[in-house]
Amino acid sequence: MSFYQILLFLHSWLRWAILLTALWVLIRSFRGWQMGLPFKKSDNGMQAAFVGMMHLQLVLGLLLYFVFSPFGLDAFAQGAKVVMKNAGLRYWAVEHATVMLLAVILAQVGRTKSKRARAHKQKFKHAFVFFLISLILMLSRIPWHESARLFRSF
Ligand code: HEM
Repeated sequence: MSFYQILLFLHSWLRWAILLTALWVLIRSFRGWQMGLPFKKSDNGMQAAFVGMMHLQLVLGLLLYFVFSPFGLDAFAQGAKVVMKNAGLRYWAVEHATVMLLAVILAQVGRTKSKRARAHKQKFKHAFVFFLISLILMLSRIPWHESARLFRSF
């Protein structure tokens, strides 16, 4: 078992933890925002967990991209034109990496705005809006059609 396989395994399964937490935080944020509920410690904790996992996923993704995966920076050894013309290579080397990076940034912005807001309604609203866009971006660049990548095993 190589380090590359271990990283890919962790990156693959962390996706599920991220998606489930995002869904949970979004439901809580929407309810809190619309129903004027108090922003609790648990809301803060779940937000922190979501954004913390996003950062961890970013680190794993960067390691894959720059060091271990043949579909990251390595792909450009064949020339940028080759990468851009090959849908498979372009997907990982360009689309997945940039869109996911944007998703991480939006999650962090939502977290910061939510923390800074004083009114509870605003805390929920910022989290809901930014995390929703972040989730949509993530969903759009996960390779759902590749069944071997869905529930990866060693
Ligand atoms: C933050 C949200 C992210 C999610 C939810 C996510 C999700 C995934 C998933 C589901 C896979 C397929 C894993 C498998 O084969 O089982 C994957 C692979 C990969 N991801 Fe991400 N990713 C994220 C961020 C990133 C970032 C920011 C980068 C790079 C800058 C990145 C680079 C890669 C690379 C290089 C692969 C591996 C392709 C391979 O070698 O097979 N990911 N990612």
